Amino acid sequence: MTQQKATNVHWHEGEVTRADRAALLRQKGATIWFTGLSGSGKSTIAVALEKALYERGHLAYRLDGDNVRMGINKNLGFSAEDRTENIRRIGEVAKLFVDAGVIVLTSFISPYRADRDLVRKLHADAGMDFIEVFVDAPLEVAESRDPKGLYKKARAGQIKNFTGIDDPYEPPLQPELVLPTHKLTLEAEVQTLLELLDARGIVRKA
Ligand code: ADX
Repeated sequence: MTQQKATNVHWHEGEVTRADRAALLRQKGATIWFTGLSGSGKSTIAVALEKALYERGHLAYRLDGDNVRMGINKNLGFSAEDRTENIRRIGEVAKLFVDAGVIVLTSFISPYRADRDLVRKLHADAGMDFIEVFVDAPLEVAESRDPKGLYKKARAGQIKNFTGIDDPYEPPLQPELVLPTHKLTLEAEVQTLLELLDARGIVRKA
């Protein structure tokens, strides 16, 4: 757990509450946390879900591995420590968006269970919805897709500590949802997610 470093800092409440923002946007902010191997389909699903939500009049925003690593987390690599810090910061950023009323769609390998559990706790402590979705493509399938050619490089020893090859991936034990992307269509996956968001009162009934 990262320690609080600054002293004499105080949370400052405004006059517009999270509930006010939810009423304004007619949705409840929440984090949908996609986890899975590189090439499992996390980003593809997040892009499709964002579009489906937009078409229904809902505001979602994606936080995506490669993009975030070019900005706020550009000083982090792929050691266990850096991956942990990557996920911690993203968890905090997601919380800010949720507080703002946005449906956040995160696509990070997030290979360590403890890191994901920390983000879950950050949300729970703040009274926020955290929906963990295991994007469950077997390694052989993710590797055969190899959309960025990275598995090939990892097998050739040109990338070290590549998740699934020479670095671990710890699958969730109790995710809210499992999506085996080698067995389902993208449309079916989006439909399932929309129904889940509906059931949790995050979006309005269609
Ligand atoms: S995480 O492990 O810290 O959650 P994150 O999702 O941000 O990873 O970044 C993963 C992306 O970085 C992969 O999709 C891939 O494009 C790229 N990448 C580069 N090196 C590695 C590596 N060693 N292991 C995993 N992904 C890597």
